[in-house]
Amino acid sequence: MSVDTANGEDLHTAMVDQLVADHAEKGLVMRPEVEAALRSVPRHLFTPDAALAEAYRADQAVVTKRIGDEAVSSVSAPWLIAEMLGQAADAVDGGLAGRHVLEIGSGGYNAALLRELVGPSGSVTTVDIDREVTDRATACLTAAGYDDVVVVCADAEQPVNPGRRYDLIIVTVGAWDIPPAWTAQLAENGTLVVPLRTFGMTRSWAMRRTGDRLVSHSQRLCGFVSMQGAGAHEVRYVDVADGVHLRLDEDQQVDRHAVGELLAQPQTQAWAGVSLPPRTVLADLDLWLASRITDAGQQFVVLTAQQEAVDAGVVAPAWRFGTPAALDNAAFCYRSTLRWDDDDMFDLGACAHGPDAASATGRMVGQMRAWLDSGSPSPVLHVLPADTPDGDLPAGTVLDKRHSRFVLTLTPA
Ligand SMILES: C[S@@+](CC[C@H](N)C(=O)[O-])C[C@H]1O[C@@H](n2cnc3c(N)ncnc32)[C@H](O)[C@@H]1O
Repeated sequence: MSVDTANGEDLHTAMVDQLVADHAEKGLVMRPEVEAALRSVPRHLFTPDAALAEAYRADQAVVTKRIGDEAVSSVSAPWLIAEMLGQAADAVDGGLAGRHVLEIGSGGYNAALLRELVGPSGSVTTVDIDREVTDRATACLTAAGYDDVVVVCADAEQPVNPGRRYDLIIVTVGAWDIPPAWTAQLAENGTLVVPLRTFGMTRSWAMRRTGDRLVSHSQRLCGFVSMQGAGAHEVRYVDVADGVHLRLDEDQQVDRHAVGELLAQPQTQAWAGVSLPPRTVLADLDLWLASRITDAGQQFVVLTAQQEAVDAGVVAPAWRFGTPAALDNAAFCYRSTLRWDDDDMFDLGACAHGPDAASATGRMVGQMRAWLDSGSPSPVLHVLPADTPDGDLPAGTVLDKRHSRFVLTLTPA
């Protein structure tokens, strides 16, 4: 089908077919109710300013508001919405029908999908901090016939409807912490799905509430526009060489000149000596490295680079948009590009610069082998209140946030 001649219905069908195929390729199964909702809701009614072909791209968000160069609101990418709805439906015992849902971050489209999923006996409330966004979402929902979604304009850092409990809270904006209001608004055993930054890397976590704690049920790789308002938490990029940056959390400090001096020293490369099939997902490895580097008392940072710096050989990161790296006084070490063999299998590697580069790369490839030898475990995230004493924390790598203590557990499979 040519995009030029296709009508909206054809494009809609093709988008959902593509989403189902993408799930299968990632080893996921799209739940029939999620597929039915995706087939029911015409996405172009929520992106009236975009061309039909843009509205029905499976892989792209449609940006609806920018401030300067920064996108602050969008109708999220369908692949991501589909995965997060699947996470929600998997985590909510008994499925989504009849459930009461709070969506944080409004574009209209996801709220309409949720409305389809919860059915007539359920309810959907969506909240956004930006009046322009809520007005737009209300207009689009009405135009698409979803006039019983409650749209609220407020900062979701605070309770939206004090005293009310939801079976599911689905956050569609990038968060750094879990404010107490989110746990408090969840029913016991309720589910929170949230794109959360841990160790500088964002994953969509589906978590279930037990008392004042949340424990993760699943996680997926994702990216989102950042939270605004009282829960905003700045990400900083520090230049360490031409076109090479470290992505840091607000409270992380590095001496950029010292890192620059390490990077100016010759590069050492080591290989894990493993043979992995294409499509092996390495997102869990990156969280494993973050936890092992932190537990070893080194500083964990995320390396990003411009294509020009990669082409010039300044750095060779696994993924230039965010690669795990370890930093100390004697070496700067990061996960490097994969090495492919003639049988289409790949090896994992590490690159380092500095006087201790050889042992740093040896340590990192050792950590990679340890992850594989442990059965490539997926992390489980525990979220506890900020005043939880150390003795009450589960075993794992602790990450203290403003309102919560996070513990990442990677138990060998
Ligand atoms: C990616 S968009 C939401 C997409 C939407 N759920 C959809 O249907 O595609 C993220 C939204 O989160 C909103 N947002 C950011 N910080 C917020 C906060 N503290 N409380 C409520 N909404 C917030 C932004 O205004 C933005 O419109």
